[in-house]
Amino acid sequence: MRKLRKAGSLRPAQIILALDVDSLEGAMGFVDRLYPKIKIFKVGSHLFTAYGPRIIELIREKGAEVFLDLKYFDIPNTVAQAVGAAARHKVKMLTLHISGGKEMLEAAVAAAEAKAKEASLARPLLIGVTVLTSALAKSNDVLALAKMGIESGLDGIVCSAREAGILREKIKRDFLIITPGIRMDTSSADDQKRTATVEQAVKAGSDFLVIGRPILKADNPLAKTEELLGDLYGAGN
Ligand code: C5P
Repeated sequence: MRKLRKAGSLRPAQIILALDVDSLEGAMGFVDRLYPKIKIFKVGSHLFTAYGPRIIELIREKGAEVFLDLKYFDIPNTVAQAVGAAARHKVKMLTLHISGGKEMLEAAVAAAEAKAKEASLARPLLIGVTVLTSALAKSNDVLALAKMGIESGLDGIVCSAREAGILREKIKRDFLIITPGIRMDTSSADDQKRTATVEQAVKAGSDFLVIGRPILKADNPLAKTEELLGDLYGAGN
């Protein structure tokens, strides 16, 4: 039975590995070593531009799932077609910019549902990006965009652990929170502006913790993954 975490989420949190590497071999090396300890792998614009849908197929062939992080932002028809194509490639979840507007988001949701139904597949989870942490943003903007995203039918929101607590408090709906910027020790931030530990993110109500460099750059990525999973299971998850 699923435990109810403090912040109100009904799901046990999971780690997603951000495959921010240069080569297909490098990416698949991490999938081979870390699946099934890690079950979802994030493919971003770098890897997807270099290798296309092949990378999705290879990850899925191993039994793992794909989080396609291409942050769609375009006119409704174009985004709907991209989402339909992602659904056909059986990605588990994908990102799009909420600032693309309600019409774009609703078109994306409709396309995901239609394509999934047509092929008798599970519909990909649609995850909204509010504002990039590299851009200037106020927490009010994040909240307003997150609300609009959820009202438009999105399944979840990407946000920092700090924002996760606010969103869980202010949006009284069941939605997913995806949190990047996870560090074992928040003093080693790399270029991240709002870092949190696994425990802080889980306590704030995050469902998926996106982790890249702490695992990718570790001397022993498997040992580091096990350490992070230990933190995850120990965090009331
Ligand atoms: O290496 P690190 O753990 O910082 O990687 C975090 C991952 O999360 C990267 O793939 C990055 O693109 C993504 N991300 C982020 N901050 C956001 C949204 C996504 O770091 N606001």
